[in-house]
Amino acid sequence: NLDLSCTLVIFGATGDLTHRKLLPAIYNLQYQRLLPEAFSIMAIGRKDKTSNTYREEAYKAVKKFSRFPMEEEVWKDISHKIYYESMNFLEKEGYIELQKRLQIIDEKHHTKGNKIYYMAVAPEYFQHIIDALHKHVINKEEKSWRRIVIEKPFGRDLESAKYLNSKIVEVFQEKNTYRIDHYLGKEMLQNIMVLRFANMFFEPLWNSKYIDNIQISSSERVGVENRGGYYEKAGAMRDMVQSHMLQLVSLIGMEPPNDLDTESIRNEKVKVLKALKKITQEDVQENTVRGQYGPGQLGGESFLGYREEERVSVTSDTETYVALRVFIENFRWAGVPFYIRTGKRMPQKSTEIIIQFKSIENILYFKEKILQPNLLVIRIQPREGVFFRFNAKEPGTQQKIIPVQMDFCQNCQLDINSPEAYERLLYDVMRGDSTLFARWDEVEYSWRFVDSILEGWKKQKPVFPNYEAGTWGPKETDLLLQKDKRGWINI
Ligand code: BG6
Repeated sequence: NLDLSCTLVIFGATGDLTHRKLLPAIYNLQYQRLLPEAFSIMAIGRKDKTSNTYREEAYKAVKKFSRFPMEEEVWKDISHKIYYESMNFLEKEGYIELQKRLQIIDEKHHTKGNKIYYMAVAPEYFQHIIDALHKHVINKEEKSWRRIVIEKPFGRDLESAKYLNSKIVEVFQEKNTYRIDHYLGKEMLQNIMVLRFANMFFEPLWNSKYIDNIQISSSERVGVENRGGYYEKAGAMRDMVQSHMLQLVSLIGMEPPNDLDTESIRNEKVKVLKALKKITQEDVQENTVRGQYGPGQLGGESFLGYREEERVSVTSDTETYVALRVFIENFRWAGVPFYIRTGKRMPQKSTEIIIQFKSIENILYFKEKILQPNLLVIRIQPREGVFFRFNAKEPGTQQKIIPVQMDFCQNCQLDINSPEAYERLLYDVMRGDSTLFARWDEVEYSWRFVDSILEGWKKQKPVFPNYEAGTWGPKETDLLLQKDKRGWINI
């Protein structure tokens, strides 16, 4: 019986993230009656508008992006608890005003002074807002709880991440710091641990003795959309690999935790990140591929090249595609390559993990080279499920062996509507459960790994663009596996 009473203070309330993800997530929670009665939202943006205008905008956003139909009764229950405050994030006056307003709202909705501060703003504002909250808004003596939710990117390298973290710890305890990686809110990511540790038949094979390689791919059909300004400074490595892709690696690679509590799980995940073999300047060439899309076509539609996108330099060297060969240096994974790839403007949106099992040379049926290796595929999105490929005799033939499949699709039935990642994550923040958020040392070790590659890349100017929009990325990506006598598996 947790007390969830609180005010959610959203910085960046007129932005894309709030409209597409946060407001619909709040509505979805209310729809399921998961929000407490004592709840309110303080939406903060730079634009001037009244609370009523903001509520109308929020209504439209919810209608468009929520997974549940708009029901007026549900909306009514939540809309009168939403307030809007316009302020310049860089000026102290706004924060002084905010503090007063928060007190009034708190009393009105009986939220007991509990606050969630949600940073849905551009990362350059994070530090400033945290400092100003510290000075003008937060009363450290208060008994109520305060939590901070911080969107990615958490820094742009290890050094800036450390600095940002040092600012946060002045005001918020680690257990009250929720570093969002929205992939952790996805159903199938949570399912990875369940599959591995709630079944007997995967885990005994989950090691270098039986697994040949692991391929983690995340492709997107979209380009950079209207985020050129941010993306130019980030690139696929910071935008996708440092966070989402390395989280996938750690969930696949981790040891079974001693317990299912937050810290036991995060302790095991961070060990994987610590054990990642550093890709140094000397071996960047051998283990990484970077790409940038040029103009291209897909399904009759023409797309601009990255360099022609809004707020992108015409000579930009920012990568929109990354492929890596990664090793985890520990007993379980010695010698097993994890191939990772992610890119924008690919033919389709999909995230999946393929575990390829070993074959035995020259024994029984394995003598025939035609045998296909066993595969276990964990499908994250858009289809969610698990797929297993194994060999069987083709019926009616004398001895022909063919690959067959067992396919579990979790969201294929029409009545299953998986919760949105943000819905789960926001609810977890309210409940004070940080299991599905990145702990500081996870962020730290993933930056260590990524920084070293970025450093190596700096030494060589890339030849961009090197893949056409609507294709599967630069051709060097295939070479990365061919060198190991392997290939990408497309299911
Ligand atoms: C975000 C990145 O974290 O993840 C985006 O900043 C990317 O560039 C997005 O498009 C992908 O998320 P999803 O849930 O659509 O796979």
